[in-house]
Amino acid sequence: MATIRVHDRVFTEYLSAAVIQERVTALATQINEDYAGKKPLFLAILNGSFMFAADLFKQIRVEAEISFIKIASYQGMRSTGQVVTSIGMEQDLHERELIIVEDIVDTGKTLHHFLPSLQQQQPASIRIATFLHKPEATTFEVPLDYVGFSIPNKFVVGYGLDYDGMGRNYGALYQLV
Ligand code: IMP
Repeated sequence: MATIRVHDRVFTEYLSAAVIQERVTALATQINEDYAGKKPLFLAILNGSFMFAADLFKQIRVEAEISFIKIASYQGMRSTGQVVTSIGMEQDLHERELIIVEDIVDTGKTLHHFLPSLQQQQPASIRIATFLHKPEATTFEVPLDYVGFSIPNKFVVGYGLDYDGMGRNYGALYQLV
């Protein structure tokens, strides 16, 4: 079994590059069917989703746009709640068919707090495509429409996902030993 070292930790291969590509193709096929005749706008959440977003988007055959955004969270000045905003969003989202592209939904906190700011702009629809989902870790409700793989609650790296900035540069996915 292939292993990699990232910083001080050893990870073993969990999903091969071939298995990942096959699943991404299946997701793209489904999206192509679901969005026939529409012009979706993909919103890829940086940094983790860049590889999944590229592989998925290459196989989209309906007219489509893609934008890469960063999500930043901060404490609001007046409220104690967490405010989540995006950086790099230039498009008008009004009446658009949005497909959010994520690397992984873990607790669901990030998307749960981000979705209302998208809804405020009154898009025609919002769907979420995530490469990975950790159902055991998810405590914030997020509607997931396209899930690459549901995985156990173990830390993973590769295929865009990092451990402290490193490990994104693999076509396969690796799990902490
Ligand atoms: P959530 O808000 O808890 O759903 O967190 C999602 C974010 O946490 C993802 O976009 C990743 O950046 C990061 N994350 C969660 N689990 C992992 C993992 O196993 N490996 C690498 N990053 C992870």
